[in-house]
Amino acid sequence: MTELKSKIFEQALLSQLSKKQVKERVDAYSLPFKELMAYYRCAMMEIETKFRVLSEELSIQYDHNPIETIKTRLKSPESIFDKLTRKNLPLTAQGIEENLNDIAGIRVICSFPSDIYRLADSFLKQDDVFLLERKDYIKNPKENGYRSLHLIVETPIFLHDCKKMMKAEVQFRTISMDWWASTEHKIRYKKDIAEDGSIDRELVECARLAAELDSRMEDIQRAVQSNL
Ligand code: GTP
Ligand code: MG
Repeated sequence: MTELKSKIFEQALLSQLSKKQVKERVDAYSLPFKELMAYYRCAMMEIETKFRVLSEELSIQYDHNPIETIKTRLKSPESIFDKLTRKNLPLTAQGIEENLNDIAGIRVICSFPSDIYRLADSFLKQDDVFLLERKDYIKNPKENGYRSLHLIVETPIFLHDCKKMMKAEVQFRTISMDWWASTEHKIRYKKDIAEDGSIDRELVECARLAAELDSRMEDIQRAVQSNL
C-alpha cells in the first residue's frame, strides 16, 4: 500500500467512514491519481526543456548563461493529501486538477535579477504558455524577507491521442534568493519558534543583505560588460 493510501485509511478510520466510503476514497487515488501525476511530470519536462532552449540561445546573445540551475519537483502524495484536507477540498483527481496549482514545480535559478525578468518575459511570450497568476516577491518582498518571482502557468502536453492543458508553478530566483529561502526553510520548517521577534528581524536583515549583494554583483557585471 502506498503511503498516501495508508494515510487515507488512517484518516477514514479516524473519521469513522463506512467501508464503501473508504473504498471510494482509495479508488480515487489509484489509476486516475497515477495518471494525473504522470501528466504533471510531463508538464515539468516540457517546461524544463523550454528553459534549457532559452538558456542555450540567450547564453550566446548575452555572453553569460542566464540560468545557473533548474530544479523540478513533483508535490508528494502526502503534501497533496495534507493540502486538500487542510483546505477541505475533494480528495479526487479532479479536486487536485481544479484546485492545486503547484503539483508541478519548476525552479529556475539565475545569476542576476535582470536575467529573471528577461527569462520570464521570453517564457511568457511563447504561444503555448498561458499566465494564470503572477506574484512578484522581488519587487514586493514578503514581510519575512522572502524574494522570488512566482508564475502559475498553463501549458499543453501532447499525449498519444489528445492534448491536455496542465498547470505548473514556476519560481525564479537568483542564487542568493535561493540560498536565503532554502536556509530560512531549514531553520523554520515544522518548528514553532517561540521568540521575541529577534530571529525574524535577523532573517529580514539577511534577506536585505542578500538583495544588496545581488544588486552589487549586477553592477559589477554591467561595468565589466561596458568595458568589453
Ligand atoms: P501555498 O501554495 O498554499 O503555499 O500558498 P500560496 O500560493 O499563497 O503561496 P505563494 O505563491 O506565496 O508561495 C508558494 C511557494 O513559494 C511555497 O511553496 C514555497 O516554495 C515558496 N515560499 C513562499 N513563501 C516563502 C517563504 O516565506 N519562505 C520560503 N523559504 N519559501 C517560501
Ligand atoms: Mg501556491
